[in-house]
Amino acid sequence: MNMMVPPPSHSSLYYCFQILLALVLFSLQMLTHQLEASSSKVEVLPGFEGPLPFQLETGYVGLGETDDDMQVFYYFIKSENDPKKDPLMLWLTGGPGCSSFSGLVFQIGPVEFEIKEYNGSVPSLVLRPQSWTKLCSIIFVDLPLGTGFSYAKNLTAHRSDWKLVHHTHQFLRKWLIDHPEFLSNEFYFGADSYSGIPVPAIVQEISNGNEEGLQPSINLQGYLLGNPITTRREKNDQIPYAHGMGLISDELYKSLQKNCKEEYIDVDSRNELCLRDLEYFDECLSGINHFYILDSYCESDSPLWRRSLTHELKKSSSSHLTDTVPELSCRIYSSYLGRKWINNERVRKALHIREGTIGKWVRCYKTDFEYEISDSVEFHANLSKKGYRSLIYSGDHDILVPFMSTQAWIRALNYSIVDDWRLWFANGQVGGYTRTYSNRMTFATVKGSGHMAPEYTPEQCFSMFTKWISNLPL
Ligand SMILES: *[C@@H]1O[C@H](CO)[C@@H](O)[C@H](O)[C@H]1NC(C)=O
Ligand SMILES: *[C@@H]1O[C@H](CO)[C@@H](O)[C@H](O)[C@H]1NC(C)=O
Ligand SMILES: *[C@@H]1O[C@H](CO)[C@@H](O)[C@H](O)[C@H]1NC(C)=O
Ligand SMILES: *[C@@H]1O[C@H](CO)[C@@H](O)[C@H](O)[C@H]1NC(C)=O
Repeated sequence: MNMMVPPPSHSSLYYCFQILLALVLFSLQMLTHQLEASSSKVEVLPGFEGPLPFQLETGYVGLGETDDDMQVFYYFIKSENDPKKDPLMLWLTGGPGCSSFSGLVFQIGPVEFEIKEYNGSVPSLVLRPQSWTKLCSIIFVDLPLGTGFSYAKNLTAHRSDWKLVHHTHQFLRKWLIDHPEFLSNEFYFGADSYSGIPVPAIVQEISNGNEEGLQPSINLQGYLLGNPITTRREKNDQIPYAHGMGLISDELYKSLQKNCKEEYIDVDSRNELCLRDLEYFDECLSGINHFYILDSYCESDSPLWRRSLTHELKKSSSSHLTDTVPELSCRIYSSYLGRKWINNERVRKALHIREGTIGKWVRCYKTDFEYEISDSVEFHANLSKKGYRSLIYSGDHDILVPFMSTQAWIRALNYSIVDDWRLWFANGQVGGYTRTYSNRMTFATVKGSGHMAPEYTPEQCFSMFTKWISNLPL
């Protein structure tokens, strides 16, 4: 269970190679551009009554040398306010390998599923009033390759942290070449969960690319991350967190601290006292929803998500449970509706999915991913030095990435505080707590929320996002 894989070195030679590659790919794309339309407007969607009241486009961006290789699928929704002036955001859901359709439909996009028992008809979509597209244009991208509707000839060759970083960067520049009207908009990156590992590296690569004159230049302003995995040592904070939340006894907590010496990840297999305590700990948390400890626990939550966190979870077998039907009262029921919806032939046609490229769509594709970046703190430090803004928020009832872990690495950056710990409000009620540092980084808790905060507390998160993206204090 050693998570400290050193990241490969990044020599300048490698960078030259990247630039060269980008130039070659750029010219190739110009040549092959007319071969097939790569983006299409979507005006109606099965399950949604009438024409869509927002502008949706779907499409593919090719990263490979041939037309049928390395095709990255995206959903693009224009700001419902003023797309000419509003910021542009690229959103990457976690996993790694969970489709950004999750971010769109379960968290921050303009539509969501109506929760009704599935009866064989296409599930219904309704509008989400707290969509972040009310004030920001958002590209939801399916990456790494193999995720959602993105495909490649040889997937195995394209699935690792660093490949995800390079591919996302290339995707963005190519997407902007195809959408030059968005070149001058302020650009932000948004992501959550596992993407806390690759995204700071992607933002650094975008910034370095700009400095080296890569075209088109990107108007990069900053990034926001929700409950981001950052050090891969978040599990160590689960124990004090569970204690603080009243999930384990004082005695067990003291015993764990003493027997394990506060190291709960790399445990010596001969340390029986510590192992026994950890077993008791697991028992205490066995009926608890780890994503949102206030929520119901549903059997089908675990297979999808347990695997998604760290490579420790990679071991459990993959797709055997994806067809379980959850209880209607479980939050995960919407995920089941999502699978039924998106695997429907009419829906796929409406989304302009290329026929024969992807068999069954799965929310999280987890096969053969190589974990290369052990920790993303240094990227945050580098980005701060360059003056980019950032918002790091923590749903405070998530035990997978407890807010204490996030606060700890932010504190370790050693920036001075410019706006100290205080309440922030949403609709006249306390939305959580916030603190802002001199490196333009804002930390915020989202009170009573979970791992994917906008899914659990949409009003609070919409209010937080609105203020931050408008350059206002929370
Ligand atoms: C499923 O329910 C909807 C109403 O919610 C109805 O319009 C539709 O016809 C039903 N489909 C089937 C196959 O019964
Ligand atoms: C796919 O890529 C992997 C890793 O680069 C390589 O080992 C394998 O031979 C490739 N498979 C094919 C069919 O080219
Ligand atoms: C941070 O920036 C420095 C200076 O540009 C660079 O040498 C270093 O590799 C960067 N850190 C990471 C993790 O990329
Ligand atoms: C922050 O300060 C501590 C204690 O002075 C030091 O050990 C650490 O290296 C500093 N971290 C950074 C990122 O500068």
